[in-house]
Amino acid sequence: MALQQYIRDIQDFPKKGIVFKDITPLLSSPEGTKECLSLLINSLNGKKIDKVVGVESRGFFFATLLAHELNVGFVPVRKPKKLPFTTISASYQLEYGTDTLEIHTDSIKKGDKILIHDDVLASGGTAKAVCELVERLGGEIVQCNFLMELTHLHGRKKLGNKEIFAALTYG
Ligand code: PRP
Ligand code: MG
Repeated sequence: MALQQYIRDIQDFPKKGIVFKDITPLLSSPEGTKECLSLLINSLNGKKIDKVVGVESRGFFFATLLAHELNVGFVPVRKPKKLPFTTISASYQLEYGTDTLEIHTDSIKKGDKILIHDDVLASGGTAKAVCELVERLGGEIVQCNFLMELTHLHGRKKLGNKEIFAALTYG
């Protein structure tokens, strides 16, 4: 089955006028999950990865699968005050206000080759903040990958010349 058939449109969620792309049918299908994971892995063209950085919360699902498949460690980027050890943080703009993400200072070593994963690339604010955290710790970003990219929100523009891959795109 084509990958997009595992993504369900939910009208008016989380608020009126928004069509939410629900990934739970994909997560509940072993076939869909395997197919999606293969696409993400193949997009790396065998490039060396030392760590997979996944973004709370919906980025965690596939980031841990990717880390397992690549046989490397998983690093969580979390919302404020969730991580117990020493952290650094980065803030980014929301439509109204700002939000912050954190990472453990010992999670990445200088020169580590990093794959960043999140479920959705929308405005790009989240991914940009994650790139900033990784680079502040000395990580080298090999690719940012996503289950889906909402191209009309131009998130790519915020990520400069980073390599970006999305298993699905919606315009
Ligand atoms: C959603 C989504 C991405 C981010 C993309 O996460 O899972 O992480 O927004 O948006 P952006 O490109 O405009 O920054 P959200 O912050 O809603 O939290 P969740 O993953 O915990 O549901
Ligand atoms: Mg998220």
